[in-house]
Amino acid sequence: MKKKIFSGVQPTGNLHLGNYLGAIKNFVKLNNDDQNNCVFCVVDLHAITVSQDPKKLRNNIRETVATFIASGIDPKKSIIFNQSQVSAHSEAAWILSCIARMGWLNRMTQFKEKAGKDKEKASIGLYSYPVLMAADILLYDSTHVPVGDDQKQHLELCRDIAQKFNNDFGVKDFFKVPEPLIQKEFSRIMSLKDGSKKMSKSDLSDLSRINLTDEKDEIINKIKKAKTDPMPMPSNIEELEKRFEAKNLIGIYASLSGQPLEKTVKEFAGKNFSEFKENLSQVIVDKIIPISVEIKKLLNEKDYLDNILLDGCKKANNIASNKIKKIHEIVGF
Ligand code: AMP
Ligand code: TRP
Repeated sequence: MKKKIFSGVQPTGNLHLGNYLGAIKNFVKLNNDDQNNCVFCVVDLHAITVSQDPKKLRNNIRETVATFIASGIDPKKSIIFNQSQVSAHSEAAWILSCIARMGWLNRMTQFKEKAGKDKEKASIGLYSYPVLMAADILLYDSTHVPVGDDQKQHLELCRDIAQKFNNDFGVKDFFKVPEPLIQKEFSRIMSLKDGSKKMSKSDLSDLSRINLTDEKDEIINKIKKAKTDPMPMPSNIEELEKRFEAKNLIGIYASLSGQPLEKTVKEFAGKNFSEFKENLSQVIVDKIIPISVEIKKLLNEKDYLDNILLDGCKKANNIASNKIKKIHEIVGF
């Protein structure tokens, strides 16, 4: 039995090194394994849970597809589509929102972070966002969901929703209960300006992240300005636990160079940060610049990108419309 892989990325611009190391790099590996059937979704319905400029949104959808392809996902092997074009996602989200409990959603930390102090002004969509995510996953009988560490709680909720639906309607195994695929190390890349905050698209400071479309000079400058501490480079792994910024930068180096963390710590132990940063910039430039160049090239090929989505939507729709029909029958429509 092939594994069924599903994941989504929001087309909200500024895709960054955290998205790459936490998620997209893993998508590429899964895409390359013939034991897997992969579906990668550009989750535009999720994007509008906070307000979006329509013109920018349309560009960001194409940019996300371009990033998938530039990173190495093969659209002939994997289904790439955008969520809004397969109406079963919205339908299933409504039905599942009648299964999910308020108490479960009230625990979601991402909502609390995103809504901030003024929860009353957050959209209802932002609150029920994880239910739509569950619909995405469950419509495709997904067995494995590769995501960064920040999505772990949403996946647990998805598992709860699947089990409750199966129990409530007495349809054992109708929804597959998916397994999260979260990397053991480097599943949460932190901001370059604050090692206690995750690297994020929405951080107001562009210096806090390496964008996948950055130029070489920007990468070098951002790493030069990245926050560190006044001590020399740590000499053992234990030291990293209290030194967030050092841990993050060493983690990025280890992850991009495919070298174990321990070996990386040893390589730079006791050295100055400035020397390490030169090496770090180099590995980032080597990995990211080819992707950045390819994204920019693909963005000039709008028809190519649109055709990938069109083709992906047809394939996704075949699977999802079949599943939603069965959901209707089970529910009694
Ligand atoms: P998003 O941009 O929020 O749609 O996230 C797309 C994917 O990137 C998800 O699987 C996230 O878990 C992952 N991701 C986002 N930010 C980070 C980060 N700072 N570190 C690791 N993974 C991340
Ligand atoms: N919520 C995810 C994020 O912000 C994106 C997402 C939407 C997703 N639907 C999904 C991820 C289904 C995995 C599976 O990163």
